[in-house]
Amino acid sequence: MAICDNVGKTEAGILTFAGRNTVELAEKYGTPLYLMDEDKIREKMRRYKNAMKEYFGPESGPLYASKAASFKRIYEIAKEEGIGIDVVSGGELYTALAAGFDVSNAFFHGNNKTYDEIKFAIESGIGYFVVDSLKELDEINREAERQKVKQKVLLRITPGIDSHTNKKIATGNVDSKFGMAIATYQAHEFTYAALRCEWLELCGYHCHVGSQVFVADVFEDAVDIMIDFAVEIKEKYDYEPQILNLGGGFGVRYVKSHPELDIEKSIRDVAVALEAKCNETGLTKPIILMEPGRSIVADAGMTLYTAGVIKQITSFKNYLAIDGGMGDNPRFALYDAEYTVLNASRAGKHPDYICSVVGKCCESGDIIQEGVNIAKPQKGDIIAVLTTGAYNYSMASNYNRIPKPPVVMLSGGEDYVAVKRETYADVIRNDV
Ligand code: LLP
Repeated sequence: MAICDNVGKTEAGILTFAGRNTVELAEKYGTPLYLMDEDKIREKMRRYKNAMKEYFGPESGPLYASKAASFKRIYEIAKEEGIGIDVVSGGELYTALAAGFDVSNAFFHGNNKTYDEIKFAIESGIGYFVVDSLKELDEINREAERQKVKQKVLLRITPGIDSHTNKKIATGNVDSKFGMAIATYQAHEFTYAALRCEWLELCGYHCHVGSQVFVADVFEDAVDIMIDFAVEIKEKYDYEPQILNLGGGFGVRYVKSHPELDIEKSIRDVAVALEAKCNETGLTKPIILMEPGRSIVADAGMTLYTAGVIKQITSFKNYLAIDGGMGDNPRFALYDAEYTVLNASRAGKHPDYICSVVGKCCESGDIIQEGVNIAKPQKGDIIAVLTTGAYNYSMASNYNRIPKPPVVMLSGGEDYVAVKRETYADVIRNDV
């Protein structure tokens, strides 16, 4: 039944998550409800940290890509686990600061950082900017000068790689809104310009090929291309990068047909490719950073809903409507994302009811998943959607003025609220 090792069932046939009875949690907190398995998040952070140190060297390590799930508690966990973070907006930075995260270990991304964000980040002591364009390079340099700060930066380079993922989440190809491409020679000009910025310390390069990537070769190709680029720059401008940040993107198993990506093995394969390439070219091996988001939090998440209307469209199909929808999980609507859905109240029963699981928004595209096979539901059953820890809460909206669900953390048999359930008053808070 389970696709994740933190999912099981009680003897009475109730679905469990992180060893907890999901129906009891739904009763305690109400639905829709985001659950997060804190122990799983910590386990993943440690696995990345240990494997990266072992295979890339002691200074290498992961940065948690906090766009995957951003709320104060998650930055506290990253801090406690001793890993850095990637932020992409003033809002994520603000949240990290509010959580007491030391942002000297934070990397500020984004293809269109505003002046206010640049100013705020430098004032807050941001560790690094990942600079996306020439214009931004100039803006950061000028603001660093104004604040009399020597600002560390990486350059976002587009390696020109097809990551074989959904085109909405692919970023490594030349025609991308992110970064400067090697193929067009703009990456070279970009580096030359960065080296001439008096108030910037160029620490190296960054690339990110895409998200939900299963083919380890893609990262090995990225290493190959980025090291070739670094060698060209070394020969031309006598500059060697101290850091190479390979971005995020490791794929996650949402349904049984997805492969299970072996984090340690994938990191080792990339490290072997890096070692060989550096030996071949004579480039000093850089510190390697990676930015896993999805693969740290996705299977640490589960969303619980309550079954509402169940109807059959004669000669067509069955619909199961739940009390959430595209407001708390827009990923099917956006990417046709696949999910495993289970009837948590009847996890011991044979799945024999094929239906489309739909939300309560006033929109036909408000679908969580089509054609799922679950134990026949009755109104009031608890319905679980697995692997919702990444890009669900962080992409949630108040469409139809539906308040966002709370985030409840599960750890060592305990449960606590990390993000409160929104109220109607919260929804109108900024209405004047
Ligand atoms: N680093 C950079 C520069 C990125 O752009 C991203 C993701 C990551 C790291 C983290 O990638 P991950 O390990 O999570 O795959 N909303 C989409 C995903 C968008 C990913 C954007 N960038 C989704 O729900 O699938």
